Amino acid sequence: MPPATAREAGLLDHRLLFVTGKGGVGKSTVAAALGGLAAADGRRVIVAEVHRRADVEHAVTAAGADHISIDPQDAMEEYLADQLPRPLAELLKSSRAFGYLAAATPGLRELLTAGKLWELAQDERRTPGARPYDLVVVDAPATGHGLALLQAPRTFADAAKVGPIARQGGIIDAQLRDPAQTAVIAVTTAEEMPVNETLALRDGLRDAMGLDLSLVVVNAVRPDRFTAAEARALADAADEPAVAAALGQHAVAREQRAQLARLRRGLGGAVPTVTLPFRPEGADPAAFASRLARAAR
Ligand SMILES: Nc1ncnc2c1ncn2[C@@H]1O[C@H](COP(=O)(O)OP(=O)(O)O)[C@@H](O)[C@H]1O
Ligand SMILES: [Mg+2]
Repeated sequence: MPPATAREAGLLDHRLLFVTGKGGVGKSTVAAALGGLAAADGRRVIVAEVHRRADVEHAVTAAGADHISIDPQDAMEEYLADQLPRPLAELLKSSRAFGYLAAATPGLRELLTAGKLWELAQDERRTPGARPYDLVVVDAPATGHGLALLQAPRTFADAAKVGPIARQGGIIDAQLRDPAQTAVIAVTTAEEMPVNETLALRDGLRDAMGLDLSLVVVNAVRPDRFTAAEARALADAADEPAVAAALGQHAVAREQRAQLARLRRGLGGAVPTVTLPFRPEGADPAAFASRLARAAR
C-alpha cells in the first residue's frame, strides 16, 4: 500500500476527525468506535454529533469519550454572547430571529457548527474552564451536508472579505484544510449507491478542500461462505428453503465483493480501506475497535 502523508501521523493524531457518508451506513457507529479507541489510547476525546432536526438519531456512545450534540442555534447563542453587546445578543437569541437570520443567510448553520467544532478542538477553549480535547471526532451529517460543513468557513470568509467573520472564518478554514490537523473518513456499505457517493465525496473533497480521504470504512460486509463451485452444486437443491436462503446470502455477499472491488479501483490505491463485518446481533462499536485500530495507524 503506498504511503499517504495524512496517515503517517496516524489518524488519532489529528485534532478533528470527520466521519461522513450516506445516511444509515454506520457513521455514528464508526465515530463511536474511533472515540472509544482514542480514549483507550489515553487521549482526551469528544464525539461531536452534528444535530439535524430531520434525523434525530440516538447517540451511539463511546466508552471513555465525552459526547456533545451540536445545535447551530446553541452555537450561535454561545458565539453571540461572546461577541455582541448584551441587548443585541438577547434579541438574536430568540428562535424567531435565528430562523430569519438562518433563512436569509444560506450556510449560516454550517458556519456556526464548524465554528463550534473548531472551538472544541482548541487548546484554549473559548468557554472559560472548559475541558480541552486532543481529538474531536465529528459524527458528521450525510455526505453533501458534511462537505457543506467543511466549506462554510471559507465561503463566509470570502464573502465577508474583511471584519471579524472573515478573520475567524479564515482561521477555522485554515485548520480544516490542514491535513496534519483534519482528517476525513468516509463510511460506506458495499452497495452501488453508497460506493458512488463515496467516490463523489472524494472528488468533492479534493476540489473544495484540497484534502483527500484518509480512510474509507466499508461497513456491514457479509461473509461469503461458498465458492462458486459450491454455489453451483447447491443450486440443484434450491427448492429447499434453507438452501435458497443460503444462496440468497451468497448472492448478496458476491455483489458486495464486486462493489468493494469497484470502490478500490475508483480510489486508485491512494486511500486505504478497511472492512467491518455485518453483525446479526447488531452494531457494537467496541467489536470494531481492533480492526479500526489497525487501519488508524
Ligand atoms: N456492522 C454492522 N452490523 C450490524 N448492524 C450495524 C452495523 N453497523 C451499523 N449497524 C446498525 O445500523 C444502523 C445504522 O447505523 P448508524 O451507525 O446509526 O448509521 P448512521 O450514523 O450512518 O446513520 C444502526 O441501527 C446500527 O446499530
Ligand atoms: Mg448517525
